[in-house]
Amino acid sequence: MSPAPETLASRGGTPVRPTFLPFTRPSIGPREKQLVMETLDSGWITTGPRTEELARRIAALVGARHALAVDSATGALHLALAALGVGPGDEVVTSAYTFVACVNVIEHVGARPVLADVEPDTLCVDPAALERALTPRTKAVMPVDYGGQPCEYDAILELARGRGVAVVEDAAHALGASWRGRPVGSLSDITAFSFYATKNLTTGEGGAAITDDDELAARMSLLSLHGMNRDAWKRYTDTGSWYYEVTAPGFKYNLSDVLAAIGLAQLERFDEMQRLRHERAAQYDALLAGVPEARRPAVRPGAVHAWHLYPIALELERLTCDRARFIQELRAENIGTSVHFIPIHFHPHFRGTLGLREGDFPVAEDAYRRAITLPLFPDMTPRDVEDVVAAVRKVATHYRR
Ligand SMILES: Cc1ncc(COP(=O)(O)O)c(C=O)c1O
Repeated sequence: MSPAPETLASRGGTPVRPTFLPFTRPSIGPREKQLVMETLDSGWITTGPRTEELARRIAALVGARHALAVDSATGALHLALAALGVGPGDEVVTSAYTFVACVNVIEHVGARPVLADVEPDTLCVDPAALERALTPRTKAVMPVDYGGQPCEYDAILELARGRGVAVVEDAAHALGASWRGRPVGSLSDITAFSFYATKNLTTGEGGAAITDDDELAARMSLLSLHGMNRDAWKRYTDTGSWYYEVTAPGFKYNLSDVLAAIGLAQLERFDEMQRLRHERAAQYDALLAGVPEARRPAVRPGAVHAWHLYPIALELERLTCDRARFIQELRAENIGTSVHFIPIHFHPHFRGTLGLREGDFPVAEDAYRRAITLPLFPDMTPRDVEDVVAAVRKVATHYRR
C-alpha cells in the first residue's frame, strides 16, 4: 500500500469539520420504512400494484401518458432503443461526457455509438456538435441532462424532427427539471429516469421509461419482462390465468414492489426534497462567488435545474495543484466529493471499439480535468454547505498561484 498523501490537514492543521460529509446520502424516513414493511407483509413482493402505482404517479408528475417503472435507467435506455427498433447498421449519437450506461446500451442493441462534444458552460451535449455527428445511419440521439439540467431541447428536437431521428433523453439526473415550462419527461420521444441510491428520488435501484406514444409504451412493457404478454401480477391474482405467450425475446428489467414502496414514500416528499436541493445550490452559488478558483455551474435561461449534482470547475490557471490533489485535500478536510464524468473515450473499451483518442472531444476533456462534484443532498444542513465552501476556500488559498 502506498502511504497516505500528505495534506494540509495531515501537516498539523485541523480539518474544517471533525466528521466526514459524504458526497451524497439518500433521504430515508419513517414513511419509506412503513411502506416497505406494509409491502413485505402484503404477500406480494415483486412487480405488482405498488410498481404500477409508482409508474402512474411518475407519469402524472411529468405530464406524460405512459411510465413504465423498471429496475434502472440503464434498463429504461436499453428498452427505449430496442422498442424503437435500433439495431445493427444504425448509429446513435450521445454525449462524450456521460455515464457509460448510455454507450453500453447502444452497443447492446448492436448499433454504433457516435459521440458529440458538450457545451463548455452546462456540459450538456452541444446541439451544433450533435448536428455534425448525424449521418444517414443515425436512428436516434441520446442527449444527457447533465447534473439535472435539461439540454437545449428547442434545437435538439428541431434537429431530430427534421431528420426523422428519435430522441431518447437520458434524464437519469433530471426528475423535477423543466425546459421552457415543460417538465422533463414530456419533451422527448422516450425519457429515462433513474431511481438509483444517489438520485433525487430513489428506490435503491430503479428507474422509469416515459413516453406519450402508445405503441412504444406497449413494446417497452412487453420487452421489460421476457417478452411475455402477461406479467405475474396479472396471472397469479384470483382473476388471473396461468397462460401467457412470448411474442419477442425480452429482457428482465422489472421493478419489485418492495422497491416501488420506497419510491411511493419518496414521491410524497419529492417537492420538499427538491426545494432543499434548490436552497443548498443557491447557498453554494452565493458563498462560492467569493472563491475565484472555483467556477460555479451555469444554468441556461429557460431551464429549471433539478440540482442532482453541484459540479464546480477548478480554475487550474489560478492554482499550483491539479484536480486529483484538490480532491485529496478536500478528503483530508472531511469533505467527500466525486467526479462526473470520465469522458467516454478515456475508457479503454470505447477507445478500442470506437477508434477514438485523446483530443477528439476537447470540451469534455477540459471539463474532466477541472471537475469536482461537491456534496448535495436534501438532508444536508446550511452548516454543511458552509463547511464545504470553507474547505474549498482553504485549499484554493493554499494552492493559489
Ligand atoms: C447520466 C446517467 N445515465 C444513466 C445512468 C444509469 O442509471 P442507473 O444506475 O439507474 O441504471 C446514470 C447513473 O448514475 C447516469 O449518471
